[in-house]
Amino acid sequence: MSDAKQVWINGKFVPWEKATVHLMSHALSRGSAFFEVFGVHSHPGGPAAFRMAEHLDRLCKSAELLGMEMAYNKDEIAQAVRDTVKHTGLEDGYIKIMAYYSEEAFAVLVPESKLDIGIFAFPAGADLGIDINKPISACICKWRKIHPDTVPVEAKACSNYLNGFLARQDAMKRGFDVGLMLDTDGYLAEGSIEACFMFKDGVLKAPPLGRVLRSISRRSVIEAAPMIGIEVVQAPITREEFMDADEVFTSATPFKVLPVGRLEDRILADAPGQFSRKLAALMADIASGKDSRFKHWFEPL
Ligand SMILES: Cc1ncc(COP(=O)(O)O)c(C=O)c1O
Repeated sequence: MSDAKQVWINGKFVPWEKATVHLMSHALSRGSAFFEVFGVHSHPGGPAAFRMAEHLDRLCKSAELLGMEMAYNKDEIAQAVRDTVKHTGLEDGYIKIMAYYSEEAFAVLVPESKLDIGIFAFPAGADLGIDINKPISACICKWRKIHPDTVPVEAKACSNYLNGFLARQDAMKRGFDVGLMLDTDGYLAEGSIEACFMFKDGVLKAPPLGRVLRSISRRSVIEAAPMIGIEVVQAPITREEFMDADEVFTSATPFKVLPVGRLEDRILADAPGQFSRKLAALMADIASGKDSRFKHWFEPL
């Protein structure tokens, strides 16, 4: 029987309201949790996960970078995802996997236990906080992206999202949809929950890896773009270069190409521009399973 409001926790399905931790849990009071989110798409053969293997690899990489151990291995988590999709009847939406120390801890900094795992199914249409059906506005926010020498930025750690929270909060206070962060050397890094790209003279440019999350949407865009003749460059982008871009878009699991129509005080009047439009169409065909060249990116669930 399918029950959309059930959550897989450590091998059992529990009602949504029972998917809780104590206020004194290490995860909440010390910020020791990380997560993964990926898309589930309704394909003719049934629900299919977008690049699940890469997402589960990133989940394991987060654990490794943080020196934490999960109570389940990759294969067990993959099976739990399949069970969750079946149990909840998810056809089209997202899977969110949480890894967290649920134990209560007042003074303990480094627990010896393994991380609990929770798996949530979210149907498409969940509130994403911004309207992704039209070009968005973006600013360069006052906060800088956390430096990888301070915490591993390639780990999808919940505590890293305080940086993203501040960026979005700053943007919203200034009347923008999203805030994009420069790194501590002044080069473009990423948004709170999104990678960013620019086009100049038809060439697609993205900030290099090292200072940003290894976004799987970013990687997918970079791998797919050459298929429609778009040249891609991964190189540091200065603020000046970015502000002078012909087209700008952000990219993340729920929106592979989300055009920016206002960048600080610059109006990009015809957003999405010609190149972003082509790329968005390609990514939409890939997501729906129409483009057979990318079938291997999907895993039937
Ligand atoms: C900081 C940050 N950058 C980029 C992304 C996009 O990553 P992905 O494409 O894997 O969803 C996210 C997504 O959560 C993120 O939090």
